Amino acid sequence: MEYNIHNKENSEAIQVYLVNKSDLDNNHHKKLLEELKFQGNFKEAAFLPESKMLFIGLTLKPVTANFDDYFQVNPMQLGAAAYKALSKYILKDIQIDFLSEEIGSKQESRQTFLSDFMLGFFQASYKFDKYLKAEEEAKKELNIYLSKPLSELATANLIQENKILNASLNFTRWIVDDTPENINPETMPKLIRAELEHKPNISIKEINYQQLQELGMEGVLFVGRASPYKPVLVHTILKPKGEVKKRVALVGKGITFDSGGLNIKPGEHMKTMKTDMAGSATMFGVIKTLAELGLQNTEVHWISAFAENVIDGSAYKPDDILTTYSGQTVEVFNTDAEGRLTLADALAYATMQNPDYIIDAATLTGACPFALSEYFTGLMGNDKTLISDLEATFVSNGEPTIVVPMPEVLREYVKGDISDLMNTSKGQIRSGHVTAGLFLSHFVDQNLFRNPKLNLREPKAYKWAHMDIAGSAHNEGRNNVGAKGATGQSVKSLVKFIQKQDN
Ligand code: BES
Ligand code: ZN
Ligand code: ZN
Repeated sequence: MEYNIHNKENSEAIQVYLVNKSDLDNNHHKKLLEELKFQGNFKEAAFLPESKMLFIGLTLKPVTANFDDYFQVNPMQLGAAAYKALSKYILKDIQIDFLSEEIGSKQESRQTFLSDFMLGFFQASYKFDKYLKAEEEAKKELNIYLSKPLSELATANLIQENKILNASLNFTRWIVDDTPENINPETMPKLIRAELEHKPNISIKEINYQQLQELGMEGVLFVGRASPYKPVLVHTILKPKGEVKKRVALVGKGITFDSGGLNIKPGEHMKTMKTDMAGSATMFGVIKTLAELGLQNTEVHWISAFAENVIDGSAYKPDDILTTYSGQTVEVFNTDAEGRLTLADALAYATMQNPDYIIDAATLTGACPFALSEYFTGLMGNDKTLISDLEATFVSNGEPTIVVPMPEVLREYVKGDISDLMNTSKGQIRSGHVTAGLFLSHFVDQNLFRNPKLNLREPKAYKWAHMDIAGSAHNEGRNNVGAKGATGQSVKSLVKFIQKQDN
């Protein structure tokens, strides 16, 4: 949906009032609210079509238990609730008005509230309608008006950032929702160029099939071998406006379709595996946003290996042993544990950029949503400060994330017998998201590397965070803001995280 934000009032527009419990007694709609039995509870909605008024409750319950804060302090959900209450009607002009004074006393938190509310509203309107021609023809345009105290909060910068972030979230969601016919290792590099190449301070390197062979990236090569689309690794660099003081490497899993390979997935599990590139789509959205907003002193590297995990006579097999870019060998126990093989090469490649820290996002294991539910990202890593800083950012941005411990006792389960590592855990270890995380950790510690071609004079263990987004990136049943399908979850937090560190 196209939209414009106007910093002025429009009394003809639908009025959206955000109401706190404490406002119920003290405003000019008191009588009406009493008749409606409106309590002001969080996400409570009452719409009066004749008088064009929508009331949305915003009273937060006191936080009583761990993790509940994600769902209580989230203005995006309020925005989404407002959209849902109005979505049956033809939306054209909407005015947002807070009866409440309690959305935070600080200017900054009030601004964040307003911005997130609008983002939630727009994100709730997202629909993957590429294959619904009729709807595409009926392209909607929406005007948002802001009433007095709000228009003072909505600076040009805030509106601009909001639009950029919303467009990036839509973009990430769109390419996750799009089909494997359209999104594959051949089209992804083209899409990256089309979207980013013309932006300032961006450069794009493609490591093609032959170069993957020369570099010895058998993790990517084996997984992508049976597809008519040759695997490729794309490395995008965003330079800051000023001097480089910090370097961040973002790595995203880019399996454009995961059939499981020879360990083929049963039908009901294979459906939705077009979303197995959501990690790369997430990082795509992050770097797109940062390129449009600009950074002062942080250089951002985004690295994704794109491959399609399918079969023909050339497919890689259980029992194969491959040598990764790091030089560590991996025995294949299950061709459906392919993500960690391509990530092994992408992560080792990321260390070669000498970043201050590495963050990866991957739809890595079915075990993760099994353990944490579809709402939560599983956050792991090897650096306490990085993990807790990231966690704090996810909490304050209302993107559900749970820190998952990676106990060292489990490491032996990914160690190989006739190879350095194996791609599934031996024995009956059911927490597959943890052992997958432990597997990946071997590729951010250069002390374990043994590829002589890398010429590592001072091998280093890199700070690294891993996000298992198998549940949170895409969901058939629910979504952070309501719609089915791709969520775009994590893009916003990662953008804010990198912006915050950029000084
Ligand atoms: N892409 C899947 C993980 C996945 C499952 C993502 C459900 C989104 C929703 C991954 O490649 C996979 O198949 N993992 C296996 C690993 C196993 C064979 C060790 C899994 O989780 O079952
Ligand atoms: Zn798989
Ligand atoms: Zn996969």
